[in-house]
Amino acid sequence: MLAVLDWYRAAGVDTAVGEEPVDRFAQRPPQRVTPPPAAAPAAERPVEAPMLGGDPSEARSLAASAQSLDQLQAILGAYDGCGLKLRATQLVFADGNPEAEIMLIGEAPGAEEDRQGKPFVGKSGQLLDRMLGAIGLDRTNVYIANTVPWRPPGNRTPTPEEMALCLPFLHRQVELVAPKLVMTLGGPAMQTIFSTTTGIIKMRGKWSSVAIGHHTVDAIPTLHPAYLLRNPAAKQQAWRDMLSLKLKAEELGLN
Ligand code: URA
Repeated sequence: MLAVLDWYRAAGVDTAVGEEPVDRFAQRPPQRVTPPPAAAPAAERPVEAPMLGGDPSEARSLAASAQSLDQLQAILGAYDGCGLKLRATQLVFADGNPEAEIMLIGEAPGAEEDRQGKPFVGKSGQLLDRMLGAIGLDRTNVYIANTVPWRPPGNRTPTPEEMALCLPFLHRQVELVAPKLVMTLGGPAMQTIFSTTTGIIKMRGKWSSVAIGHHTVDAIPTLHPAYLLRNPAAKQQAWRDMLSLKLKAEELGLN
């Protein structure tokens, strides 16, 4: 029974919706209703099911209205357009230094991030801290965010629709931080930021200039720390990318 509960929780089934269990198998299937011959007058028409998902243009104008990171965080906190919020414990907005010249962008919060409300604080975050430490950086001189700020149920990859609704907020976040360098972590973050369908193995370690919202910045993709935990042999590639980040920061005279 505990294993079943664990499995439900991992799949995102973690909210009770009633006091008593309902045996849906015992319920009779709904009866087919023959539609009426002509459309009923407006007042009698059945209410249509609400459309799932928000409106990307509303997300864009809300994001554009934020004049500071605090405002953006408050707007996102009140935003109900993205379904991910329903299942998440809280908003995971950012961590690190908002004045930093280097910004790291991951994919989505995991279970520990969802609990603490900060990105990269679980196992992969600890590895990320060690990777940063190896090139003399820590969270006082980088700013960290994710492509989506709520944990997807069961840690699944956010859907393109969820990404599209959250992207205007990430763009605004990047505009407001205005970093000099960006590093993306993992395939989905790379594909979102570089607007590409190319795989991470092919693109990692290569610098390019990308427009993120209205901010144009040099960016480099690297492997996700969670991938490195599963594939330790790939750490040497990530190490090369970290060295490349360090070199570029030195060239630009960043601290
Ligand atoms: N993985 C991510 O991509 N982001 C986090 O914040 C944590 C794990």
